[in-house]
Amino acid sequence: MAVDVLLGLQWGDEGKGKIVDVLSPQYDMIARFQGGPNAGHTLEFDNQKYVLNTIPSGIFNEKTMNLIGNGVVIDPIILKRELDNLKKNGFDPVAAKKLVIARKAHLILPTHQLLDAASESKMGEGKIGSTLKGIGPTYMDKTGRNGLRVGDTQLPDFKAKYQKLVDKHKSILSHYGEVPDFSEKEASFFEAIEFLKTIPQVDSEHFVNQYLKEGKTVLAEGAQGAMLDVDFGSYPFVTSSNTTTAGACTGLGIAPQKIGSVVGIFKAYCTRVGGGPFPTELNNETGEELRRIGHEFGATTGRPRRCGWIDLPALKYAIMLNGVTELVMTKADVLSGFETIYACTHYKHDGQVIDYMPYDICTIKPEPVYEAIPGWKEDITGIKEVSEIPESLSSYVKYLEKALEVPVRYLSVGPDRAQTLILN
Ligand code: GDP
Ligand code: IMO
Ligand code: MG
Repeated sequence: MAVDVLLGLQWGDEGKGKIVDVLSPQYDMIARFQGGPNAGHTLEFDNQKYVLNTIPSGIFNEKTMNLIGNGVVIDPIILKRELDNLKKNGFDPVAAKKLVIARKAHLILPTHQLLDAASESKMGEGKIGSTLKGIGPTYMDKTGRNGLRVGDTQLPDFKAKYQKLVDKHKSILSHYGEVPDFSEKEASFFEAIEFLKTIPQVDSEHFVNQYLKEGKTVLAEGAQGAMLDVDFGSYPFVTSSNTTTAGACTGLGIAPQKIGSVVGIFKAYCTRVGGGPFPTELNNETGEELRRIGHEFGATTGRPRRCGWIDLPALKYAIMLNGVTELVMTKADVLSGFETIYACTHYKHDGQVIDYMPYDICTIKPEPVYEAIPGWKEDITGIKEVSEIPESLSSYVKYLEKALEVPVRYLSVGPDRAQTLILN
């Protein structure tokens, strides 16, 4: 058996949570492989909306096991809050034995968040616009070989290890200014650590490979999107993990040849939250309309998302990096009513027309070259059959399939799990 992978092809918030939830009945396990509570994955069903930050989006499927993989960074306070909220709504994945956590996953400490905030405020105008969840500093400690891991919570000297790392952080923080008081947060952290210890810990590499050996199906759930990948995204305006398919191998402990289908998700247009380049951004009424109709406000931070037209050079790049075998287009309903929609096919850069992301994307502003595509007027949020899809929307999908050279398998026409069409 192979591990299928589902990931975002743009700058995050493509609708990964919703689609993982839709696909989860087909899988024995859903496994998050990178990122942390910077993610906000929204799911809707039975008139209820849930936002998950750390927990895989298979949690609402009765039969599915959910693994938080070693590549994820975990804030125990946020994880506890997520599970408390689920419990209030009648879901208790720990009691149901449907949630396990990798021993090798790294912990986000309260001081990681302080470091994130200090670094961002120091950068002023040029800041990344991070989610301030401590993601960057935690991955820095991981690669710097200083980090604390989930498995360390079982060790008798966990507190001493914690203190050693906090002392290092305090010394760095003192260079930024006065170290803020974090005693309250620290108390919540240790309370949450006790809670964390009640979640079964596993070696994700053995756990996942055993599933495969037994012929079980696994879907790896990505967070963020390809353009936020630390190596290939719009660096330095990226997150601190590999959001691409390769990240699923290191973030779960699976060999590259064990990867099966790669499902790439994109919005029918494009959004980004935080700083950094966004060639097709619309700083005008159309951009505002997309934000208003698409409710484009961050699921984690509530920040307004920047909106623009679909960017084909960026999507082709993401498809190449990830080895995408099938596509999902979400939020097609948001474009209903636009007379004309536009797809960026190329950029103009340095007097030349190019069809790839230039290296210096952050310093130059490539000018998008657009193709105009007729829009559709119909409200599509209630359609249940492929035959009901307006012709202009079908043409848009076919146009994208031709340009991207990958079939669009699913079309999402609203936030609810039921608002999903299988195309082919
Ligand atoms: P994720 O981070 O990729 O899981 O995406 P988010 O949850 O951050 O953002 C996607 C938003 O769009 C959420 O509010 C979803 O409920 C919503 N959504 C997902 N698919 C659709 C769709 O097809 N149409 C509309 N209108 N909303 C959608
Ligand atoms: P999901 O999984 C959209 C962005 C932040 C910032 C940059 C770095 O919901 O798609 P970080 O806190 O990771 O150091 O921030 O990355 N970012 C996201 N944008 N969706 C996300 O996750 C994101 N996670 C991080 O806004 O620009
Ligand atoms: Mg999100």
